[in-house]
Amino acid sequence: MRGKLVVGNWKMHGNLATNMALLQAVRDGAVELRSGAALCVPYPYLAQARSVLEGSNVAWGAQDVSEHDSGAWTGEVSGAMLADFGCRYVIVGHSERRSFFGDSDAVTAAKFLAARRAGLTPILCVGETLEEREAGITGDIVTRQIDAVLSASGMAAFADAVVAYEPVWAIGTGRTASPAQAQEVHAMIRTRFSDESAVIGSQLRILYGGSVKPGNAAEIFAQPDIDGGLIGGASLVAADFLAICAAA
Ligand code: PGA
Repeated sequence: MRGKLVVGNWKMHGNLATNMALLQAVRDGAVELRSGAALCVPYPYLAQARSVLEGSNVAWGAQDVSEHDSGAWTGEVSGAMLADFGCRYVIVGHSERRSFFGDSDAVTAAKFLAARRAGLTPILCVGETLEEREAGITGDIVTRQIDAVLSASGMAAFADAVVAYEPVWAIGTGRTASPAQAQEVHAMIRTRFSDESAVIGSQLRILYGGSVKPGNAAEIFAQPDIDGGLIGGASLVAADFLAICAAA
C-alpha cells in the first residue's frame, strides 16, 4: 500500500518572520496527520526549516538542485549541500523551471540523477500546457518528459522516487484538472512504469499539483492512482496546507 504524501512548494515566498510562524503552525498541526508531509522552501531558509521541523512529522526539501556535484558553477546549489541541511526531497523539472529557466528534459534528467547521487528523493514534475492538452497530445508530452529521465537513470532509480503530475494550465490559475482528468494521466504514468517493473509501478507515488485547495483535495486524492499532492499557493497558509494533508 502506497502511503499518501503532501508536499508544499513555497516557491519564492516568505521571510524569516513569516516562515517561522508558518513552519511552527504546520509542525504543530501535523502531529495527528496520517499522511506524509513535507515543505520545499527557498534555499536560504533550509536551516530555519530544519531547526523548526527536525524531529517532527514534517520533512523538508528544496525546489531545485544543480546537476553538478561541486565546482565552479556560480550560483548553483548541489545535492550534497541540500543533504547537509537534512533535506529529504528536492523538486526537479517544475514547469516554472522548464519554461522560465530553460530546464530541458535533459537538464531535468541530470538534476534527477544528481539528487539520487546525494541520497535525496527527487520529485519529478511533468505536465502539459493548455495548447498541448487542446491538441490532444497530453499523453505524448508526459511520456516524453518521463522517458527522458528514465533513459538517463534507468528504472531502478525510480524506487522510492516521486512523480508529480502538474498540468501547466492548472498551476496558480485556480483551475484544477477534474479528478477524472487527473486520474487518467496518473494511470497512464503508472502504466508506463508498471510495464517495465510491476513493483516500481505499484509503489511509485504520483502526486497531483495545480490549484489544490482544502475544498477540492479530498475528491482528487480519492482517485486510485493519485497518491497526494504538490501544493503551491495553499501551502503558504498553515490551516489550508494542514487541511489538504488531512484530506490525504
Ligand atoms: P499551485 O502550484 O498549487 O499554486 O497551483 C502548484 C505548483 O506549482 O507546484
